[in-house]
Order: sequence, then C-alpha cells, then structure tokens
Amino acid sequence: MTAATGPTASSDDTRVAVGPVRAENHAPGEAVGIGEERPRLSWAVLAPPRWRQQDYEVELRRGDDVEVHGPFADTDSLYRPWPGRPLLPRERAVVRVRVRGVDGGFSPWSGPEPVERGLAAADWVAVPVGSPADEDPDSDRRPALVRRDFTVRAEVVAARVYVTSHGLHELEVNGYRVGTDVLSPGWSPYATRLRYLTHDVTDLLVPGANAIGGLLGDGWYRGRLGFRGGHRNLYGTDLSLIAQLEIEYADGERDVVATDAAWRAAPSPIVVSGLYDGETYDARDERPGWSRSGFDDAGWLPVALGHRDPATLAAPDGPPVRCTEECAPVTLERRAPDRLVVDMGRNLAGRFAVRATGGAGDVLRIRHAEVLQDGELYTRPLRTARATDVYVFAGGPATWEPRFTYHGFRYAEVTAPPGVLDTLELRAHVLHSDMDRTGTFACSDPDVTTLHDNVVRSMQGNFVDVPTDCPQRDERLGWTGDIQVFAPTATFLYETTGMLSSWLRDLAIEQLDDGTVPWFVPVVPTGERWTPPRPGAAWGDAGVLTPWDVFHASGDSEILRRQWDSARRWVDLVADRAGPDRLWTGDFQLGDWLDPAAPPDDPFAATTDPDLVASAYLARSAGRLAEIATVLGREDDATGYRALAREVRAAVRDRYLSPEGRLAQESQTGYALVVAFGLTDDPVQLATAGRRLRALVEEAGHRIATGFVGTPLVTAALTATGSLDTAYRLLGQTECPSWLYPVTRGATTVWERWDSLCPDGTVNPGEMTSFNHYALGAVAHWLHTTVAGIEAAAPGWRAVRFAPRPGGGLSWARAEHRSPYGRVAVAWRIEEGTLSVTTVVPTGSTARLELPDGTVVELGPGQATHTCPAA
Ligand code: BGC
Repeated sequence: MTAATGPTASSDDTRVAVGPVRAENHAPGEAVGIGEERPRLSWAVLAPPRWRQQDYEVELRRGDDVEVHGPFADTDSLYRPWPGRPLLPRERAVVRVRVRGVDGGFSPWSGPEPVERGLAAADWVAVPVGSPADEDPDSDRRPALVRRDFTVRAEVVAARVYVTSHGLHELEVNGYRVGTDVLSPGWSPYATRLRYLTHDVTDLLVPGANAIGGLLGDGWYRGRLGFRGGHRNLYGTDLSLIAQLEIEYADGERDVVATDAAWRAAPSPIVVSGLYDGETYDARDERPGWSRSGFDDAGWLPVALGHRDPATLAAPDGPPVRCTEECAPVTLERRAPDRLVVDMGRNLAGRFAVRATGGAGDVLRIRHAEVLQDGELYTRPLRTARATDVYVFAGGPATWEPRFTYHGFRYAEVTAPPGVLDTLELRAHVLHSDMDRTGTFACSDPDVTTLHDNVVRSMQGNFVDVPTDCPQRDERLGWTGDIQVFAPTATFLYETTGMLSSWLRDLAIEQLDDGTVPWFVPVVPTGERWTPPRPGAAWGDAGVLTPWDVFHASGDSEILRRQWDSARRWVDLVADRAGPDRLWTGDFQLGDWLDPAAPPDDPFAATTDPDLVASAYLARSAGRLAEIATVLGREDDATGYRALAREVRAAVRDRYLSPEGRLAQESQTGYALVVAFGLTDDPVQLATAGRRLRALVEEAGHRIATGFVGTPLVTAALTATGSLDTAYRLLGQTECPSWLYPVTRGATTVWERWDSLCPDGTVNPGEMTSFNHYALGAVAHWLHTTVAGIEAAAPGWRAVRFAPRPGGGLSWARAEHRSPYGRVAVAWRIEEGTLSVTTVVPTGSTARLELPDGTVVELGPGQATHTCPAA
C-alpha cells in the first residue's frame, strides 16, 4: 500500500457510513467509458445528527497499485477534485472514500466504485460500416445487419466494446445482446457530437472462435423527422455501425476487433423502421445464428465503409434510454375474430413485447393511440405518425419486440389471424432515459396526488434521451420552452444532471452565431417560423435558466462554466434586439402559448401581450446570468448583467405598469410575471399586482387562464402576495380548464391542452392535441415547494428550505427528495387544530423551517418534528 499523501489512520468511526461514490454525474456502477480524465467525486454521508465532515481520504486502486490520497481538509462532499494522476484512456480505477468528523476517527471505507475512462479520439480505429447496396435515399430502405468472426487467442482478462452508429444500433456478441440500452446512441447534433457507449463484454467471449454483429435502424439519423411530413436523411444516407472491441489478455497483449473492411453485411429482417411510423419485421428473413461463430456469411457482401471524424465521438454524460418497467394490459377486448383492442390503463412511451404463435407469412399488426373515440383508436392527434408495428411470422412460436421505434400510447389495436390472436401475450415496455428517481409527493387529496403521478409519467414519456414535447405524434422534438418551464420540477423528480447537461451542450452547439437559441434542440429543418431559428422569449431562455436550474439542483458549477458563453450570448442578443429602451418588442413570439382563451387553431392568440412576456424574460435571464457570473467569479459580468436586469425591470414598469401597479392590458400571466419575476419591488405596485391577480383568478371562476408562461408562475405569485387560498382554489378546480379537469376525465399523463379531451368527450380539434406533454405539469414545483414545502435553498441542497403552506382543505402532505447529500423529507399533518411538521435533513446539509405562523427554526441533520396552530 502506498500512501500518496499524508498518513493513514485506521477506520474506526462505525457510526458513519459513506454512500455510493459518484464520478461526475454518472450513476454509481455506470462510470464505465466516461469522457473525463479527472472525474470529480461526490458522496453522501450517513452519520449521527451532530457529526460534521472535517476531512476525507480517497483510495484509488489501479490494478495492483493502491494509492491513498488525503486527508483533504474539506467539509464538502460534492464534486471533489480527482486526487491522483489523470486516468489514461481505457484506464480503470476502483475508488473508495472515507471521511472523518470533527470528533472521532475515520469512517469505514465506502463501497468500491469502478471508474473507467473511454477512448480518446486518437484511439479510434473503427470506421463506419454498413450495407453496400445501392439505395434510393428517398424511399423506405431496409436496414442491414453487419457482422464478422474473430478469434480469441488466449485467456481474456477484460474485454470492452466501444460502440456507436449512424442510425440506431443493437449489438450482439456470440448470439447474446450486448447491454440493456435502447435507441442508442440517442439523439444529438451528430455532425458535431456523436455519443458512444462502452460495454464490458468480458463474460461474453470464449477462447477460440467468436462473432460480433450489429443490427441497424434509421432512428433520428436518416429516418423521417419533423412535422409537416418531415425530412429524411437529415444527418446522412448511410446506416453504419462503429464498433471497437478491445480484448486484453492475461499476458498483457491486446487484440482489437474494429468495424472495418473485413465486416460483411446483409439485409436485416427489419423491413422498415421509423421512430414515428413504427417497425416492420419479417421473421422469414431471419438469419439464425448470424451473430454467432460458424455462421456461413459467404452470401453476405463486404461492407461499405463510411466516414466519421473520431474527434466528434463523445462519451455520454448521462444514462442511456432503457426499458424501466414492463406492464400488462388492463383489458384486452376481442372485437372480431382477427382484431382486438388493448387498454394499458395508462398512457406511456414505449412499445410492445409480443409472444404468439403463427403460421409462416401470418401478419400481426399493432396500431397505437393515446385515446379512443367511439370505442375505437383515435389517431388524428398523431398527425402523420403511422405508429404501427408489424410482425410477419416465419411459422411457429415467436417472441418479438420492435427495436428502433417507440410510441406514445395507452391503447392499441392488434390485428392478426384468429389462431394467432388466440395465443397472443402482450407486455408494454416503458422506455425513457434511465435516470434515478429522486422525488416523490403525495397529499390527502387523491386527485392532487394523481395529478402529481401524471406529471411523473409525462416526464418519463418525454425524457427519451432528449427532453421532448411529446412522445406520440410526428414531432418529439427537444422544444426549449417546454423544458425551460419544467426543469425545476424535473430536477426534483429525477436525477437529471447528466441527461440535461448533455442536452445543454447540444443547445450550445445548435445556437446560431448571433446567439439565437433554437426553438428545439437538436434542430431539424421544418421551415415556416421555426427554421432557420429566430429568437423567441421563454424558449430561448432555456439557454440561461435551465443550466441554472440544473446547477441549483445538483451543485455542479461546471455546467455553468461550460454553458457560460452560450448563456451570455443569448442575453446579449436579446439586449441588442431590445435596444436602448430596454424593451424587447416587435419580434415574432410564442408568448403565453396555449392560453386557454386562444382558439384551437390559433394557439398564438394569448391574452397576454407577447412583448410583455419577452421583456419580462429578458429581465429574468439577465438577472440569472448575473448570478451565474457570481458563481463563476466573473465580478464585472455580474455587475453588468445585474444592471441590465435592473434597467429592463424599470423599463417594463414604465411601459406596462401604472404607478399603482395595474397593467394596462390585464391578464393573469401578466401579473404572475410581475410578481414571480420580481419586476417591481415597490410595495404599492406589488400589492396591487397581487390583488388584481387574485381578482382575475376569482373572476375566471378559479379556472385556468394561463398558458406555458403563466401556468408555472400563477400559484407561486398568488402565494407570494398573500392569496394562498386563491392558489388552492385554482389547484382544486375540476372544471375545464384546470389542472384537475383531466384527472376527473381519467387522465394518466399531463395533456398539452387544458382541453385535449373536451368536456363533451370529443378530442380537441386543434392540430396539436397531445395527451402527454409535461409543460403544464410545471405546477408540480409548487406542490413540492409550497404544498409540501420542500426546496433547495443552496445549490445541491447544501441548504434546505422547508416552508409548508397547508390549505385547500388538505389534512396532510409529504414530499421527499434524494438530494446529493442524502434524503431530504417533509411530512405535515393537521390534527385537532395543530399542524405538525416532520422534517429530515441529511448529513452535510442545514435547513430552515418556516412555519405558517411565522416561526422560523434552524435545523441541522436528522429528523425533527415541530408544531404550530393550524390556521
Ligand atoms: C410543441 C410544443 C412547443 C410548441 C411551440 C408544439 O408543437 O408540441 O410543446 O413548445 O409547439 O410552438
């Protein structure tokens, strides 16, 4: 054992346990093939209430070498610097951490956490390989299989495959599927950044003859993408596998089996595959044993070699998409001998796994839809997405799941010959980015709890590698405005740091030279008003506000550093468009998109002046940018952007607010912006704005009158101006439009429109009518922070604010968040006129409890219960 620095004391403080060690933002156990050469380390500590970390040690085990680094005098445990020499490409270190408190000795070591670096650009020898067939790029093309045999010469100590593709891929070694990821390599602006995955395949290799093969699918790379028919071949016309298998032998020698001219290709049993349209698979064209050695590929053709600059290959920042849940149908209704309708009981994004027996050439067809109308699948909301999977039997029992598509659905229609349907077993596989679940909420009103469950499901259905708007129609794009309003909710519910920081990199890549942040990232050409992109408030502000939200939840300031230039360029652009009067006016804006007052066919026609929204967002983003600058130590920038925010706020007040605080053109969203974005701090104006907001909500009969912009703010604005009761009445409303109206209609996800299903039971005739959009679910942030009363008061939850504000007749509520420091929880209950609040604070955090009666209690780690009279 070599002590790299400092002396090593024994571990004896068994009251203290160090949780799993995290490298960068990779989930424990998943830091294999990472891009960072000096991954920062984070851990949570479980210790008695008064224990405080004074220093820590890190053990790095590289092969037989053991280094112990430290002790480092440091009271924090998030994103601590890598202590040893950088990891070389492919190098693996097993990391353990132990900590010492102000009193007592070291804790026992944490569990071992393997951390392994992927390849550097110079290490890539694999080239893209695909079908050599002459294909018409304007037609549906059959994807290819690619394969090769190889020999394992000796005993293998380790084997890794580094893999990505043009199009989507699934990899097999010796007949086994490699990895559990689906829809890999996900979606990014491929020309600049194509992510690869690293798999440990040591156990799949055998001495002697072996084989490796890849299945390919169109995916985002060359499949049809975008609305109004979309475009094919957005990133290229080829489908190619890029794989590099590296085998390490006991004698230290290494063999590399990489995609190259030695691979062979053949048409795949997948006849056609599209994200929107679905997949058709002809089992008669299967090539049994194709990924095993000994398979005769004499009839296969030498592959076509493609091109890929290895400098564009990047290790992932977050988890891949996986199947996270398998569900059985709730009902399966045989409507005819050859046709049945399936109800999954919930809306989801994913696809079916099928088991059935059929004769050669029998066809099983599955159509998907989110809703039924008159008892039948209603597919108009899918627009041009065919959402149809087809399986052609080879004859006999079959197990099948499409590979390179997914659908947003609750219902499905299955047609097949009666004998096939008699044998059918169906399971839906829920697919989404496999983030750790971190946040929960429940309360005494089952409808509100259901609303929250629906928000969680809509988040799942729309975190499919990219934060999308919807999972069902011909869109599924990374709309920036949607995630901008939803990020505070998302970061509570799931560990989103890796996934969202990856997407934010892409946002910066797709940003125009003039600073314009696109409407959706990655950008696909759609024409009209969307491409080339132009700057739009609330959407473009994702470039500033979302990095902040991710930072605030995680404590990872590196994200701010990386996004700084992108964020600054956005604010500079908008400030420039605003000009000397500091008001952003006259540009095309989406404004308070989908305000319920807008007619179905004109979602732009919101009540709130889009120019007010635009300038309010400029003030907001300039203010946030100043805060980001402060975190990054850019004092001059902080001063400058603070001044800009001040000037914009003043300009907004002068232009839109009367001296008493009334808007010339009143609307709920307008007042919500004034309050929630702090556009005025004049107590008179603030009081008027609060009063008018309350009055407008009451006049509307406590029905929703806000769209994408106002909805996430209106309850918070009411709360902040003394109208908590009104906020609760808005929440409790069940008539349309309201948050609970969909719940009363059996919704299991959040809808795009307040009335995606109209009160008369018909589907909204608008062109955009999704039943799975998270944006309007951003109210869950208020459920967390105000109803339950839990929020981060410092980045990474180093400080916590508990401020439950009971109301609306609720008798209890609770929420929990697994923060980077550990479990944070609040639960309150009203009994016999007394409110009692139980809180849990993790080691490493402090908290402040603000009771509704004005009492403030400072809390350290541990559990506590406090009471006050219930209002
Ligand atoms: C999407 C949105 C998006 C909006 C903006 C819609 O088609 O589904 O959620 O933000 O367009 O125009």
